[in-house]
Amino acid sequence: MSKIPPIDLAREYQTIRHEIEAAVGDVLVSGQYIGGPQVAEFEAEFGTYVGTSECVACNSGTDALYLALRALDVGPGDEVITSPFTFFATAETISLTGATPVFVDIDETFNLDAQQVEAAISEKTRAIVPVHLFGQPADMTRLGAIAASHQLAIVEDCAQATGARWQGRPVGSLGTVGCFSFFPTKNLGAFGDGGAVTTNDPAIARRIRRLKDHGASARYYHEELGANSRLDALQAAILRVKLRYLDGWNARRQAIATTYSQCLAAVDAIAVPSVRAGAISVWNQYTIRVPQSRPSQNTDNGGAISTRDRLQGSLQESGIATSIYYPFPLHLQPVYRHLGYRSGQLPLVERICTEVLSLPMFPELSHPEQDRIITVVKDALSQLGDPQTLPS
Ligand SMILES: Cc1ncc(COP(=O)(O)O)c(C=O)c1O
Repeated sequence: MSKIPPIDLAREYQTIRHEIEAAVGDVLVSGQYIGGPQVAEFEAEFGTYVGTSECVACNSGTDALYLALRALDVGPGDEVITSPFTFFATAETISLTGATPVFVDIDETFNLDAQQVEAAISEKTRAIVPVHLFGQPADMTRLGAIAASHQLAIVEDCAQATGARWQGRPVGSLGTVGCFSFFPTKNLGAFGDGGAVTTNDPAIARRIRRLKDHGASARYYHEELGANSRLDALQAAILRVKLRYLDGWNARRQAIATTYSQCLAAVDAIAVPSVRAGAISVWNQYTIRVPQSRPSQNTDNGGAISTRDRLQGSLQESGIATSIYYPFPLHLQPVYRHLGYRSGQLPLVERICTEVLSLPMFPELSHPEQDRIITVVKDALSQLGDPQTLPS
């Protein structure tokens, strides 16, 4: 029985191999490996795609967030409100500026709960960092209104949502600044690290260009401490090819998500992901929730194993690899112990971390493979027994 991986980048490569190899070959013979026309063209094309007047390419999504926060002068003494349910870089970059991340709970869409954001605003709050998690835009209408009424910046973490739209508008064009990752597993992935910042504010873009180049406004003339954060010409050339395919790939992800939801929605023991009205998700992940179906079962070593983990084990035995994004919420990470959050303080995210399971999701997933995944999920759940409907 063939194995089904959570994502298969080699399969994607085969579909565009000739174009990629030609683009890479052009860069290699050009002799221009840092900066140059490939990076400039990619910035222009990606800015057009996102619908912003400015786009600055950089080395990673992490750097995009860090540079954006620095460009907004976020620093020591400031607070930045963000989600506890995201990859660590979202909060880490806030901390690296010297500011303090303030975590508030999420809602059933896995994104920031706007009401809780408003309740967490203090005199020190400078910005909100919503994360468009798993490809689904956060409620940018409510968050935008809250930010406007408190004069806060919005730094959108678009790492998992390239191509997603909120009320018809692309993510990355909705806040003050948009931050993208081109890590290989993202919807638009490079063959290495890469990132970009988008904005309609030329002054912010200028500052980010300076910060990503060691704080230099002219060659060997440094006005502030910055970073070395460049997108390589090779990655830019690869991304330019892949950008042309992105909408088609995202449409395929949407079709796969629709099939998953249609086939799994009626299964009582799990909850399929909910999408907020107005959000067009690009499904970087398709993440179900598997609540505890009965008081925990004991393992041989006396520990407890959750229904989610048992389902994951059954899928693994059938050759289907799944992932858990994310097993621990950020407010309870050891690195943030000093912030004083208690277990139980953000109850929904804490519960969701024990329930989430991301099924294989990539544009090249075949119909027979998806049918097999759905069948195995249903069979495994019926064998795990005692299904319990999620509380509404
Ligand atoms: C939500 C989120 N933010 C930020 C990042 C950081 O991006 P990168 O890995 O390109 O630094 C990631 C990448 O995993 C992410 O998923």
